[in-house]
Amino acid sequence: MKNIAIFASGRGSNAEKIIEYFKRHEGIARVCLIVSNKADAPVLDMATREGIDRHVIKKSTFYQTKDTLNLLHNYQIDLIVLAGFLWLVPSYLVEAYRGKIINIHPALLPKFGGKGMYGMNVHKAVKENGEKESGITIHYVNEAYDEGNIIFQAACEVAPEDQPKDIAHKVQHLEHLHFAPEIAKLLQQD
Ligand code: GRF
Repeated sequence: MKNIAIFASGRGSNAEKIIEYFKRHEGIARVCLIVSNKADAPVLDMATREGIDRHVIKKSTFYQTKDTLNLLHNYQIDLIVLAGFLWLVPSYLVEAYRGKIINIHPALLPKFGGKGMYGMNVHKAVKENGEKESGITIHYVNEAYDEGNIIFQAACEVAPEDQPKDIAHKVQHLEHLHFAPEIAKLLQQD
């Protein structure tokens, strides 16, 4: 049985799907901790509803101390899942959890990645570039934004009339469909 920590800054719809998936598929893993950099993030209310421990991090503590690492060790965390977490992961954490931190990106990397490429910025760029498809990328996290090795991708069609919000909708559908099962596959390979 593996222990997962989810780092999220926003709504937490992916976090919720992951929690529910592992409640339904007992024995593989459980989400034991939600970490957020925003004290008022809806993901924290969801954690409370789901009965999952939650922790808010401050920027100075995250970057200048190893408190977060101690917290993860206390929960015996095996895998860190970034689901809409916007801060760059500091190198002490990448080193301690090398190959054990994954992220989901709402586009087909290496296109449309890097600093500032999150949320609707990504979907607007996809539209402006006239892309015929977009999708999701699940990848390992290293010291740079969106550059770690790719684990899984799934694509969706972008129709000429699709607006950024339509692309967002299609991409989110793929995220909710694939993220949790891909995490389960990864953990079962271990
Ligand atoms: C997702 O689109 C994910 O790709 C990302 O941020 C978004 C988070 O959405 N990097 P939610 O908070 O899980 O609803």
